[in-house]
Amino acid sequence: MADQYAQSGEDGRPKEIPAIRWDEPPEGPVLVLLDQTRLPAEEVELVCTDAPVLVEAIRSLAVRGAPLLGIAGAYGVALAAARGFDVDDAAEALAGARPTAVNLAVGVRRAQDAYRGELARSGDVERAAAAALGAARALHEEDAEASARMAERGLALLDELLPGGGHRILTHCNTGALVSGGEGTAFAVALAAHRAGQLRRLWVDETRPLLQGARLTAYEAARNGMAYALLTDNAAGSLFAAGEVDAVLIGADRIAADGSVANKVGSYPLAVLARYHHVPFIVVAPLTTVDLDTADGASIEVEQRPGFEVTEIAAPQVPLAGGEAGGGVPVAPLGTQAYNPAFDVTPPELVTAIVTEEGAVSPVTGEALAELCARSRQITRTF
Ligand code: MRU
Repeated sequence: MADQYAQSGEDGRPKEIPAIRWDEPPEGPVLVLLDQTRLPAEEVELVCTDAPVLVEAIRSLAVRGAPLLGIAGAYGVALAAARGFDVDDAAEALAGARPTAVNLAVGVRRAQDAYRGELARSGDVERAAAAALGAARALHEEDAEASARMAERGLALLDELLPGGGHRILTHCNTGALVSGGEGTAFAVALAAHRAGQLRRLWVDETRPLLQGARLTAYEAARNGMAYALLTDNAAGSLFAAGEVDAVLIGADRIAADGSVANKVGSYPLAVLARYHHVPFIVVAPLTTVDLDTADGASIEVEQRPGFEVTEIAAPQVPLAGGEAGGGVPVAPLGTQAYNPAFDVTPPELVTAIVTEEGAVSPVTGEALAELCARSRQITRTF
């Protein structure tokens, strides 16, 4: 299976996965997404010609993962501007497409501010559209840089916490190149450990109900030639009990001011297991995921998704659609109600460390997080 996806470029590394790209064919500018609902069966591109198409792609998880949502949101504003649509309407629809990942609204706002600023200065809509695109491109590049720095810092932390290498890392959801301008967040750290010869095994939670772990993380691990194994989410307990997990590495969709971490549903149970078994639970996220305006975990809005995602199994080839039923294979009696939060919230006291591109916070406290953010703002201003 792994060989099927192991693709090498000239440098021996797998070919870059183009999760998102801006293109300008003669018919006009478009945003091209790798449709993540079709992976790993097919690498199919989805072409967005306006913001409503992108909003639907965000809702259906064709494009997903916090950092990539921010990048997509910024490009979405640029797309609306370049195509002459109402930029503020587009920005509002994009920012509200999914509520939990703060990066989405941050990315949208950044491009919208650039558009408005240039329009106010020059009164020229073309220049304003170019400014929005410039902001989206800058965010895309910054995310790639942040990703590389998180990988470096995360690996250094693993060395410190687990001297001797040979790490067996458990991860949840998908946090690799598919969610980032670079190689991702938590996955990028595991990949750095792999390249340093320090990864014994990556344990990949399948991540019910939409299987981001099975479909996407396993796909990325296979492409990178990593030693990995897939487990059902509820097998994690016995894996910990068997002493097979040295560290948990996850990403985040929003980190509140008190250090509470919203991430894919199933992250909180892993944090509880990790604490019971004395295993470090490490969150890797760029500073764009830290939201000092949200006071605590209870204030984070957790997206509730349609019940059919739980009551049906969707084949990767069958894109999930909105509405009452998703067109998948039913696994529960018709009419079954479901509880389907997309995320859960882990309190700061269960998090060993939060690793960002500007440094790690451990122990995780509101004060330490605020200090890191203030320091990073100073660094940004110096340049
Ligand atoms: O619903 P998804 O697939 O968008 O959820 C993604 C996650 O929960 C990721 O773990 C999170 O965005 C961090 S990605 C760096």
